[in-house]
Amino acid sequence: MSFASTAESPTAAAGLGSDPQWWRQAAVYQIYPRSFADADGNGIGDLRGITSRVGYLQDLGIDAVWLSPFYPSALADGGYDVDDYRDVDPKIGTLEDFDTMIDALHRAGIRLIVDIVPNHTSDRHEWFLEALKSPTGSAARERYIFRDGTGAAGEQPPSDWTSIFGGPAWTRITEPDGSPGQWFLHSFAKEQPDLNWHNREVHEDFLQTLRFWSDRGVDGFRVDVAHGLSKDLPANLPSQAELDATPKDGAHPIWDRDEVHEIYREWRGVFNEYDPPKIGVAEAWVDSARRPKYASAEGLGQAFNFDLLEASFDAAQFRETVTFNLELAAKSGSSSTWVLSNHDVVRHATRYGLPPKAPQEDKAGTHWLLTAGTSPELEAEAGLRRARAASLFELALPGSAYLYQGEELGLHEVAEIPDTDRQDPTFFRSPGFSVGRDGCRVPMPWSSAGGSLGFGEGDAHLPQPEWFARYSVQAQDTVEDSTLNLYRRALQLRRELQGEDALEWIELPGSEVLAFRRPGGWLCVTNFDVEAVPLPDGEVLVSSQPLAVDVLPGETTVWLREH
Ligand code: GLC
Repeated sequence: MSFASTAESPTAAAGLGSDPQWWRQAAVYQIYPRSFADADGNGIGDLRGITSRVGYLQDLGIDAVWLSPFYPSALADGGYDVDDYRDVDPKIGTLEDFDTMIDALHRAGIRLIVDIVPNHTSDRHEWFLEALKSPTGSAARERYIFRDGTGAAGEQPPSDWTSIFGGPAWTRITEPDGSPGQWFLHSFAKEQPDLNWHNREVHEDFLQTLRFWSDRGVDGFRVDVAHGLSKDLPANLPSQAELDATPKDGAHPIWDRDEVHEIYREWRGVFNEYDPPKIGVAEAWVDSARRPKYASAEGLGQAFNFDLLEASFDAAQFRETVTFNLELAAKSGSSSTWVLSNHDVVRHATRYGLPPKAPQEDKAGTHWLLTAGTSPELEAEAGLRRARAASLFELALPGSAYLYQGEELGLHEVAEIPDTDRQDPTFFRSPGFSVGRDGCRVPMPWSSAGGSLGFGEGDAHLPQPEWFARYSVQAQDTVEDSTLNLYRRALQLRRELQGEDALEWIELPGSEVLAFRRPGGWLCVTNFDVEAVPLPDGEVLVSSQPLAVDVLPGETTVWLREH
């Protein structure tokens, strides 16, 4: 069933309206479901947990939730290893729980974007299991990227490629008769075999998945590794060094190939069967100039822009990033997106409190900032002060802001996770290089006391440090200057003030001061310097730090209504 007509659209029925442009300036809140709220006490967050917190999300003032994968999965990569794209992980709930959750979100005026993972399945997906049981060259193997090995008996991998998480990108299988067999490609963990997007069946199956969730009422899709699907691997594979030296200009064998957009044109066809049309947002770590194609109206419609996340807390870098990305968004006709934190990077309160480090780039061009989390060098208070200023700056920008659960509490990265508790495959596959991404995935602290600080009845699946209690929702709820109340105020004002998606820079004294005007006559002013500067004229709407009369303190953002 497809809701092709306006009459019975589930979102319209729930009072969300049918504005096809709802996403242009939306504040979208990412929920990493395993770590949000655990209703059944098994230590893993679940859908009923999310439903129980819809009131919190509504009070926060967000427009949409982006839900990271909740599909059946062995969690070899936190759910980005999907066993079945059209079901819910029993550890997380049921399809009925999903329906209840989406209904509760919609009733609260919050839309839902779900994560979709088309670059790879898990190694427990029925297709992969079938491929293992089927002979070389069979239709089942054709859905993946299998190759014979090199060496006299095929005992060497087809090439020396390394996976993005570290370690080899090829794994050898055992053939059904017990003999060592072919090798399959996995750009990430070995539990994540890459799909072959030259295969029509793969296309059809994903179209079916898009319709499955769209019919259940989801409003959009966040597309994982959107730049990796189309691959063109020659018979003689290049070496890793040759691959690294190949420009990513549309003809690279793996990343950001031009023909990937044919896939998204097909997906757009499905999106437009609905009213309002579904929205896609690409996770594409590509050269900025190539981003507009992913964000175009014929394609997914939006693409993540990670430039602000990669910038230091610095006036010149922030200004350049904003100007550049607004121009870029205009090229695609989309709005810009802004991101400071997500489930893959060190939380921004911590990043801004650490001495600057060169980001570490992997082969996909991904800057995952896979550094150790907190460290003795961390200036926790300064980091949080800068994070609050940066978040308030971000929320004033035209475009949509993607927020990550826990940033509204000012959470820092958790460094003190024992190695025995770590879960991220990057930690296991990159020994000594990366502690992985678990530090930003520690379950939310809802209360200041109790087993897992209100996350659930049982233990949290990743240990919460003692200091989490001070950052809990309960600890901040009624404290006027808390980070939580700063986000609440800013998000509420953002709704009231939001007009056209335009911005005009204004020049104020001080090389470390950035100021811009938004249509409707309000200003956002950020002082990146540690020294205070005079507060510009205007009625103060919200500020990231308490203000003294006529003074804008160091590392502070303020929104002002012009007199
Ligand atoms: C994306 C996800 C990341 C995941 C990877 C492989 O980058 O954001 O968490 O590990 O894809 O699916």
